[in-house]
Amino acid sequence: MFSIVVLISGGGSNLRALLEAAADADFPARIVAVGSDTDAPGLEHAEAFGVPTFTVVPTAFADRATWGDELLTHVQSWSPDLVVCAGFMRILPPRFVAALSPNLINTHPALLPAFPGAHAVRDALAAGVSETGVTVHIIDEGVDTGPVLLQRAVPVLSADTEHDLHERIKIVERSLLVEAVADIATAHITTEQQETVS
Ligand code: GRF
Repeated sequence: MFSIVVLISGGGSNLRALLEAAADADFPARIVAVGSDTDAPGLEHAEAFGVPTFTVVPTAFADRATWGDELLTHVQSWSPDLVVCAGFMRILPPRFVAALSPNLINTHPALLPAFPGAHAVRDALAAGVSETGVTVHIIDEGVDTGPVLLQRAVPVLSADTEHDLHERIKIVERSLLVEAVADIATAHITTEQQETVS
């Protein structure tokens, strides 16, 4: 069975969507472990589904590279077919990316290459666009620069606050991420030979 490790930093609603999908015996992938860089509330979703968790906190290490090596050791101990960053709010060090990419994906709350970075929803609102969305992409050595696997648009409404818009994006994001994982697990989309976003 195609196996996944999910990495999170926050509330974990995307993780929860994956756990619920994977609880169906017909879903083509299983979540074998969930990792975090912090004591994330979303780890409770993994525990509720009986999925093992691990936490590797950067401040416990001399530098980012050493932290990344320890995170990699934990991830690789599960021999996953795919690693999914679902609201994991750290930039992954080069050795981590080199060891796992292209079998390392991220979900991002904007239509990349528009609005990369940690404030994608705020930046889209500030830019006054009428449409933003979600991108599931392969993680490469850049920040939100890797090859796009799937995208879906979400309209921006005139009264939207950052919170409102992000909540609407996340509804779409959860289903797009589940779809992307299923498509990768069944080889309907491949993480090999994808072209990098310019
Ligand atoms: C998602 O929108 C993700 O793309 C962004 O942070 C949010 C995490 O949401 N980077 P959750 O923790 O999965 O609820």
